[in-house]
Amino acid sequence: MIVKQWTKEERYRVLRSAEELRELFERIIKSGYRQHYHIQSVTGLLNDPNGFVRYDGLWHLFYQWCPWGAVHGLKYWYHTVSRDLVTWQNRGVCIRPDTEYDNKGAYSGSALPMGEHLYLYYTGNHRDEDWTRRPYTCLVDLKNGKDAQKLPPLYGAHPDYTEHQRDPKVIRHPNTGKYYIILGAQTKDKKGCCIIYTSDSPTEGWRFAGQLKVPGFEDFGDMWECPSIETISGYDVLIFCPQHLKLHGRGDAVHHNGYLLGHMDWETLTFTPDNTNFHVLDFGFDAYAAECAANPDDQNKATLVAWMGLPDASYPTDEEEWSGCLTLPRELRVRDRRLIQQPLDALRALRGKKIDPESTDLLPRVCEMELICRGGDLSVTLFAKADGTGGLTVAYDDSRREITVDRSGMERRFNTELGEQRTRPLPKGLFHLRFFIDRSSVEIFVNDGDAVFSSRVFPTEGESRLRISGDASLHLWELNRAVEETFTID
Ligand code: FRU
Repeated sequence: MIVKQWTKEERYRVLRSAEELRELFERIIKSGYRQHYHIQSVTGLLNDPNGFVRYDGLWHLFYQWCPWGAVHGLKYWYHTVSRDLVTWQNRGVCIRPDTEYDNKGAYSGSALPMGEHLYLYYTGNHRDEDWTRRPYTCLVDLKNGKDAQKLPPLYGAHPDYTEHQRDPKVIRHPNTGKYYIILGAQTKDKKGCCIIYTSDSPTEGWRFAGQLKVPGFEDFGDMWECPSIETISGYDVLIFCPQHLKLHGRGDAVHHNGYLLGHMDWETLTFTPDNTNFHVLDFGFDAYAAECAANPDDQNKATLVAWMGLPDASYPTDEEEWSGCLTLPRELRVRDRRLIQQPLDALRALRGKKIDPESTDLLPRVCEMELICRGGDLSVTLFAKADGTGGLTVAYDDSRREITVDRSGMERRFNTELGEQRTRPLPKGLFHLRFFIDRSSVEIFVNDGDAVFSSRVFPTEGESRLRISGDASLHLWELNRAVEETFTID
């Protein structure tokens, strides 16, 4: 693949006018890999979801955006909104890196709705002339969900940690009313951790409270990105992305997104995990930087969305000068001391024509598929060639009680050095599979949300067949479009 080589000047170029992007936009929307129902980069590159929240009857979701191409450079917050978490509209750029505090990027963060204010907390990625990084925790007041006004930064970098301090997640303690910000950080001896700030006000008076103690996880990767503590069904869940760490069953991948279930003591700043298991959030190839929104109607649930991509990875659309999409939003609950993730019920509204699988072996390019499995081995191949070879295979081995997703059979292979198979044990066997297939991704929900595999996949024209062997009944629907391609930049 021929991919543009970028200079630092090109990557950090400031966007002066939307018109600078029109030609790129017109070109990329012709790509056959543009998604039909996943949030994707309007132009250039999308990475983390940010500030996911329901405010004033609307769901707001922002993403890290580098306008110029499939490259990490100057980051903006791009804003999308939805009434139902299914169909999404582009609102345009929300946070621009235009002050000295965020001169080299408005990095990831979170949202806090308060009356007419929607506060957005983010990391201002400041760099000096000599390229030394100085992160600030910055604040935007998005009044009425529309007019972004920057307030003074809350604090700068803490001297006891390296320059890697970022991704503020703001939390209001339900009993004490105190505010906390949890940040991903790196100790001077290169250990990943979280640090915590606190205040009585969301907009001022913030002070350093200390480092989060997580017994048993003092030496677990060299940086923790995008941390958050969610409370679901009375459990506290610490979600974070440890970096530069190998995990069993994850091939040669070194950046992960997972969680610990346990109890958070805000007095002593200690998160005590239930047990020593770091649970991987998503067993697929491409999922990172998950962000949760509280469910204002039901404290037993939250909604999670992640970047369907990985840091330091490349994708086939890089040569088309765009990259990145988000996963579907998923309903999170706790069952048997684990998080379960299910597609939202509202997604059923996207179902179009029901396909009779007896009548054709052609797999629609945008579809949902459900399999009720009746036991024994099962193999499902998506995107096989007409002669039955190739494709992405999902295989359940009943004797080993394991499910494996293998994308090595695809013609367009990528990130192969991270491994092309992902396996997850299923001690209770396999009884249910639900697939959401878009033009360049597959999300597989196993056993009613017990495990999820999210992966990008880039089928060519000839990779169009569905092959299934094993005992299962199959339902297949075409899905309608839920994201529009609008050139909304300002
Ligand atoms: C995670 C991350 C964050 C950072 C952002 C920059 O993917 O590296 O830590 O805030 O992306 O875009």
